[in-house]
Amino acid sequence: TAPRIAIVGATGVVGTTLAGLIEDRGFRYREVHLVASARSAGRTLTVEGREYVVEDLEGFDFSNVDLAFFSAGGSISEKYAPAAVEQGALVIDNTSAFRMDPDTPLVVPQVNAHELDKRPVSGIIANPNCSTIPLVRLLQTVERRWGIRQAVVSTYQAASGQGNGGITELHEATRATLQDPDDPGPSERFHPSLSFNVIPSIDRMLESGFTFEEQKMLQESRKILGLPHLDVTTTCVRVPVINSHSEAAWIECQNVVDREELVRLLTELPEVTVHDKDAHGAFPTPRTAGDPNHVHVGRIRVAPHNPRGFWLWIVADNVRIGAALNALQIAEALTDRGVV
Ligand code: A2P
Repeated sequence: TAPRIAIVGATGVVGTTLAGLIEDRGFRYREVHLVASARSAGRTLTVEGREYVVEDLEGFDFSNVDLAFFSAGGSISEKYAPAAVEQGALVIDNTSAFRMDPDTPLVVPQVNAHELDKRPVSGIIANPNCSTIPLVRLLQTVERRWGIRQAVVSTYQAASGQGNGGITELHEATRATLQDPDDPGPSERFHPSLSFNVIPSIDRMLESGFTFEEQKMLQESRKILGLPHLDVTTTCVRVPVINSHSEAAWIECQNVVDREELVRLLTELPEVTVHDKDAHGAFPTPRTAGDPNHVHVGRIRVAPHNPRGFWLWIVADNVRIGAALNALQIAEALTDRGVV
């Protein structure tokens, strides 16, 4: 029978997108609970044309839930996900709280769905970082064919990565600057203001001088691909885009790469759109990429002076590919396997 599900963070950007995807993809469930903070408890939200009253996470009983999606922030997951597991729910967690826990699988279904064959020891399945997901979906096939020596990646990450509050702040800050060029506008979610700016710092700064976001891309890629020594190094940058992350990736392989074969292998990947058919040098952008449920890749260039290396330009909807859709595809894989 179909699972009873809960969406924790139901009022947020990932939660509302997840509810929409559940409808679009016809994911079957027996009951759905929409859960958020006391601030929104009592509000009503619609899923598949039916109204539901938002419930307060504090005191919410997970014993009537088979599958709980958490996207309310890391500290909320740390506090409430273990309790949900204790009460019998299987948790799919969108935050970084449990990703590197050895008893918690870190899953991108197109890459390592085998991790979903059985219920995890921790009772939690972690959804990877939003920039890591599209990257590993492309790196796996490159690793298998040519072997990766090193990947150097710069990201161009959208405001929606900071939730609805991030989107609102970018709007407000931009409006303020348009009125007065010296006014950077509000700067609570983004420091300094993201208005007409780019910020090479996402999540907290670590002792190493890398940010936590940059560390996540390295550690998570290694775990998902099962390559503990994979050399991925990144600079993560916030840009004034509302939604969809972009990445410029330089990938150097152990062997010489044939561009035509590379294009063909990428084209064959599931739910990947290669922007190369009409013209070499074609490219997706956050505004124009097309199907938001696909990873988009273009600017595919093997370097003439070093044909072991090539560049990719990648665009993927961070809220869908990087969070809600990946989480739902984990749930679909679990129900297909009869794990829930
Ligand atoms: P609420 O709307 O009640 O604050 P976003 O990523 O768009 O910022 O959304 C964050 C989500 O996490 C929202 O659904 C928000 O609910 C929820 N959330 C934030 N803090 C808590 C909390 N302390 N308890 C439960 N849900 C929370």
